[in-house]
This record gives sequence, C-alpha cells and structure tokens, in this order.
Amino acid sequence: MTRKFDFLIIGSGIAGISFALKAAKHGKVALLCKTTLSESNTSYAQGGIASVTHDPDNFEKHIEDTLIAGDGHCDLAAVAKVIQEAPSQIEELLNWGVDFDRDEEGNFDLHREGGHSEHRILHHKDNTGYEIQESLIRQVKAHPEIEVYEHYFAIEILTQHHLGELVTHHTPNIECYGAYVLNLQTNNIHTFLSKVTMLATGGIGSVYSTTTNPEIATGDGIAMVHRARGVIKDMEFVQFHPTGLYHPGERPTFLISEAIRGYGAVLRTQDGKQFMQKYDERGSLAPRDIVSRAIDNEMKIRGHNFVYLDVTRMDSEETKTHFPNIYTKCLESGIDITKDFIPVSPIQHYLCGGIKVDLSGRSSINRLYAAGECSCTGLHGANRLASNSLIEAIVYADAAVKDAAKRLDSLTYNEFIPDWNDEGTSLPEEMVLITQSFREVEQIMSTYVGIVRSNLRLVRAMNRLEILYRETEHLFEKSVVSREICELRNVISIAYLIIKQALLRKESRGLHYTVDYPDRMRHEG
Ligand code: FAD
Ligand code: SIN
Repeated sequence: MTRKFDFLIIGSGIAGISFALKAAKHGKVALLCKTTLSESNTSYAQGGIASVTHDPDNFEKHIEDTLIAGDGHCDLAAVAKVIQEAPSQIEELLNWGVDFDRDEEGNFDLHREGGHSEHRILHHKDNTGYEIQESLIRQVKAHPEIEVYEHYFAIEILTQHHLGELVTHHTPNIECYGAYVLNLQTNNIHTFLSKVTMLATGGIGSVYSTTTNPEIATGDGIAMVHRARGVIKDMEFVQFHPTGLYHPGERPTFLISEAIRGYGAVLRTQDGKQFMQKYDERGSLAPRDIVSRAIDNEMKIRGHNFVYLDVTRMDSEETKTHFPNIYTKCLESGIDITKDFIPVSPIQHYLCGGIKVDLSGRSSINRLYAAGECSCTGLHGANRLASNSLIEAIVYADAAVKDAAKRLDSLTYNEFIPDWNDEGTSLPEEMVLITQSFREVEQIMSTYVGIVRSNLRLVRAMNRLEILYRETEHLFEKSVVSREICELRNVISIAYLIIKQALLRKESRGLHYTVDYPDRMRHEG
C-alpha cells in the first residue's frame, strides 16, 4: 500500500516530535516510530537541557565551554546558532507544557555539569527527558494534522536507486522520495511517499554490549543514509559517559547523572582515594572524554571493574529532593546513596557524528533532513558538552521546518517508485543466526573500539566485522524482511563507519584516543 504525506518523519524523540508539531502548520504529517511514541533516548535523559538564562551566564561563556569540550573540532557557526537560539526553543518547550524546576522566587533552578563554567542546565528533577517526551506526546496526540504510526519500522529511504538508476557517492543530485516501511504488527511493507523526509532516528548504543541507550538505538537512520550514498561524518567520536551504574547484565545501563557531580559528588578509587585532580585541574567536573579516560586508566592500573562516586558528604534530604529517580533506583539495587558510595564505570552513551547536515538541517541528499542524535551538525565537535544534545535537536528541527516549508510548494511526489519486492523465505535457523551475529558485533565494538584504541585493535575489529557483513548480506538477500535482520544490517554498517573513520584519524582528539597517535595534530582548531 502507498501513502502520501507532505512530511514523513521517522523518529518520535525530541527531534522528530518537535519537527512534527511545527511542520503540521504547513502540510500533512506522518510521524513514525519503531516501537511506541515513548520509547526513545529522549525519555531517558536525566540531567537536563542547556541554555543561557540570565547573569552571570552569557552566550559567549556557553560557546566557549562548548568549543573547549569539542577539542578544536566544532563548527563555530553551528555552535553559535544552537546557543543563541536555545532560549527561544526553551520557550517553545514551556508553551508545550514542559515543566522545568524553579526555585522559591520562581527562577529556573539551574544545575551544573562537567565542562560548564556556569550553572545553566534546566531540568525536571533528574528525569528531564521523560518530562519533555511525555509533554510532547500529549501535544502530538491532540493534533488533528499529525498521523502517528507506532510499530512502523523504516527499512530504506527511497532514492533514484529504487527507480533502477545507478547511484554512487559521486551522483550529484540524489533525491529522497520517502521510505519503505515495515508494519511490525502485520508484517506488510508500505511505501510512504513524501515531499520532505526528516530522519530523527536517534543514537547507536546497541552497537556496544553496554550502553545507557534503550535497545531501539541501532543507528537505523545513519545506516539508511550510508546505503543511499549520503555523507556521514565524525563517527569516530563515540561518547562514553563516565558514570554508568555498575550492575553487570543490566541493559540499558542505568545512568548516574553528571548533574550529581555538579552538585558536589566526587569520584574515588575502590580504596576511597580521590584521583581526578591527577588528570585535570577541573577534577570530577572536567569534560566527559577526560573523566572517562581517567576512570578507565585507574580501573586498568588496579584491575578493577568500577570506581566509586561519593555523594554521601552532601545533605541527604537535599540529595533525595534533587535526585529522586537516582536515589530510588540505587536503593532498589541495595545502595543508599546518602550513605553508600555508588559503584560506577564509563559506558557508551552518545554519538557525536552522524548524517552530515548544514545550518538548515539539510543532509547531502535532496529533500532529506536530519536532526537530533542521528545528525552531525558540527556543534559537538570531537566531544559533546553535557546537556547540549536535547537543545541541539530542537534547534535544528526548528531550522529544518523553516527551510522545508519554503520549498514545499515546489516539490511533488514521485509516483514511479515500485512496491517493495518481498520475495524471500523465512528459515528456521534464521533468528539464532541473527541474534548471535548481533552479540558478535557488540563484542567486537566493546573489545576493540572503546575508550582507548590502537591501529592493531581497529584493524582486527574491521577484519572480524567483514565476515559478519558478508554473512548478513547473504542472509538478508534470501530472507523475509524482519526488524531483526534490518537492525543487524544497520549495526554492522554503524560499526563499519565508526571503525573506518577511526582508522582515518591519525591523531588523538576529544573522544578518539589512540595509543598509536597520542597527540593532537596541529592544523585543526
Ligand atoms: P531519540 O529520542 O532517541 O528518538 C529516536 C526515535 O527514532 C524513536 O522514536 C525510535 O522509535 C525512532 N526510530 C529509530 N529507528 C527507526 C526506524 N528504523 N523506523 C522507525 N522509527 C525509528 N542529552 C541531553 O542534552 N541532556 C541530558 O540530560 C541527557 N541525558 C541522557 C541520559 C541518557 C540515559 C541517555 C540515553 C541520553 C541522554 N542524553 C541527554 C542524550 C539525549 O537524550 C539524546 O541524544 C536525544 O534525546 C536524542 O533525541 P532524538 O530525537 O535524536 O532521538
Ligand atoms: C547526564 O545527566 O549526565 C546526561 C547528560 C547528557 O548526556 O548530556
């Protein structure tokens, strides 16, 4: 079956929904997500959303902090755009009913996180993302112009390739006409034709064996654009959050927000000694890449699997008021954070790279936009400053709507796209092959492509991945399409892109640290 929409939006996190709410003023909108509207990285966000609000903070300081964290690899225009437009997008969130905590005078209660020189993180307790996600969902559900498709899995974006034309990385005007989408409840594949397509498919955490991301984070949007020959950038910059709760076997790993260090918690080795000052004068509040590497180093030296985060010296009632979610979750695991140290270790958390977009959110493929974690705007450079992700997503979704609305009248549907060819067989052993290959990708990435890298490890990872790639493409060709086989293909593409771009970077910068080139090259930044 073919459906037609002015705007096709793939992804229902902050990027996708905020785009949908604004695009609906200009045309007919389809909003797709592969599970439910609520299940997204956005829902899990804890610390908050960064924006300059009042003195002593100002745009220059937020820009400076972002550039320092990004280690000389940020795009200054993108940084200035996000930071200067942040306050007006915070207003939009307030208008949509998002409730940020305030102090007794009614001013925003601002948190501080690693790398920020000021308190500037607006938050809702310690579950800001859930508050944002649920507020936006209420708006979407009440909107008459937005058709929501839950449990609809986008398989491929449509381009000239689907009209039988040869599309290569050198094809000058690749166009996107919509997507093939699998209805996960009926197993039918639909053609969604669109004038404009927005990819807001979120992160890639499922490529690693431990991550803070929910299992939907398989990098589908990035993999689709890679297959469609679009430009993908900065994939080597994978962010490991310093403080995931150490709880082997739990997936996703529960995050202990960086805001807790901004509040006063400190890191200690298992024998109780503070160590961060050895690595950086900003101590436990240094940018994430530095703190994660320091923890990784301490764990390796001592042969330990975790270090401790100590918040016991702070007032216990205040701790419970500020971090109720973290307090309750840890208590369920037998840790009273007001009395006990919290075992933590660095954990995959975020991807700075992705689908390259310009200042209007346009990808290298015509009629295709991207926003949020699947995109690469240049804001984060080589390392994201804490709480700069939610704000980037909403600022770029806004820019993309404005740009797309101007072009809408000049665009038409491509009626020549054929239906998906769904020939194939479902083999009985298929699922176990897929599951096992998925685990192998996770193992390869966690073992060889983690916080500290080397040429030897990266080449080994690429060689192992090559085998999985060949086996999976073979399986895909003869299988009935399923979410599982598509996600496996996607995580293999993501792993490939991370390893390939890591091998190309012959220096250490931000989140990419390699023992073969421990220094930063001089010509950039
Ligand atoms: P998501 O919110 O991840 O949404 C992705 C959507 O795409 C989902 O609806 C999914 O179903 C859909 N999708 C994916 N693939 C397909 C497909 N093939 N077909 C159909 N639909 C698909 N950032 C901050 O700025 N501040 C924080 O405090 C913060 N805390 C965080 C804490 C945790 C534990 C985590 C995991 C992340 C945190 N982040 C934080 C990062 C931030 O939450 C994410 O980067 C951001 O929410 C991403 O939003 P998004 O809209 O791009 O994607
Ligand atoms: C956190 O609360 O530590 C997460 C913030 C972020 O990822 O930006």
